[in-house]
Amino acid sequence: MERQAWLDERRSWAEHWYTANAPTLDEQFPPITPTHQSFLARVIDSVPVGGAILDAPCGTGRYFDAILAAGRNVVGADQSAGMLDQARTRHPEVTLRRTRLQELRFEAAFDAAICVDAMEYVPPEDWPTVLANLRRAVRPGGLLYLTVEQIDRSEVDRAYAEAVAAGLPVVMGEHHRRGGGYHHYPTRDQVAAWLAEEQLEVVAEGHSHGSNYAYLHLLVRADRAQGEALADEGVTAAWRAHEKELYSFLVRSTRDPQAAEDLLQEAFLRLTREVLAGRPPRHVRSWLYRAARNLAIDRSRRLGSELRCMKGVGRGRYTGTAVEQPDATYLDREATDELVAALRELTPGSRRAILLAAEGLRGKEIATIIGRSEAATRALLFRARVQSRQRIAA
Ligand SMILES: C[S@@+](CC[C@H](N)C(=O)[O-])C[C@H]1O[C@@H](n2cnc3c(N)ncnc32)[C@H](O)[C@@H]1O
Repeated sequence: MERQAWLDERRSWAEHWYTANAPTLDEQFPPITPTHQSFLARVIDSVPVGGAILDAPCGTGRYFDAILAAGRNVVGADQSAGMLDQARTRHPEVTLRRTRLQELRFEAAFDAAICVDAMEYVPPEDWPTVLANLRRAVRPGGLLYLTVEQIDRSEVDRAYAEAVAAGLPVVMGEHHRRGGGYHHYPTRDQVAAWLAEEQLEVVAEGHSHGSNYAYLHLLVRADRAQGEALADEGVTAAWRAHEKELYSFLVRSTRDPQAAEDLLQEAFLRLTREVLAGRPPRHVRSWLYRAARNLAIDRSRRLGSELRCMKGVGRGRYTGTAVEQPDATYLDREATDELVAALRELTPGSRRAILLAAEGLRGKEIATIIGRSEAATRALLFRARVQSRQRIAA
């Protein structure tokens, strides 16, 4: 039998088995161990109240109670319709997705994720995909809790020899009898290598024991510092390569150098967000041009409606060229007072950055002076400008 066909058949069997047995599984399965509980508690503690945890696969939703009681939200995912029915009965308000771990499509949507007592169903060739999917579902720096089932290695070796003799297309570590017909027991070293490939750093490890098996409990973190450093590096490289041409493009589009500078920063801020969320664009230059063009279009729409509004009420707060200002001195003074008030509301770092920008310094120079990375400075400036504008507009 061809290997992929065998794996598909095993997976389909597991899906049907869980669906058929779902109504009684909570009674059949051993209770949640203290180790499971303490790892779950660490995950919950790492998530702010009101934050969200992905439980995949959630089975009958045994962990929903603890997560919801702690004031965190949960989304459940599982491939078995029957298990999801049980989870829905338990907590009808929880969002559930019927999906395989191999096809999870969440992107930075959760503060943490748990994958409990299920990786034994994942064949070796799918481990990297599943880890990548779980990692992508969680925001940079978020925790992922997973368990890895373990049995005596001599039993694994015996099962392998038996399955090969029976003509099954197994690889070492797979057990054709456990788990009703498929379980996979990777070695600790193999798990460590897969985690390292995904840049998942182990922050805690534990063990629990069942009747004839054990679980290795792993709390891992998508390395935030590394993720941010990579994002910073990528965005800085893109900034160096495309800043000048994008700026010229934006000056041509807006006919306003200051607005072009703002929109340029906003385009790069959007790029930073995409990279941090694990979605770096494949063609950075065309992505940036698209973002810049959309920003310029939004700005011109906004200005158009502001201008119409100004003309409608006949007041001259608009400082562009088209509106007559009845008392320029008074308005200038009023605008300055508002600006000073808006600046006062900023944090000292943001105020310093925005004043340096007002003196004509560019992002890189400001970054050096305030001791931050270029990407962080651009983000700071952008937020400070938005905050000041909102204050002035209020
Ligand atoms: C032992 S139960 C654990 C459920 C839950 N995490 C718990 O601890 O109560 C295993 C679950 O994994 C699900 N499952 C197995 N392989 C899966 C896959 N490839 N994708 C999604 N769900 C899977 C099964 O349907 C089942 O609900």
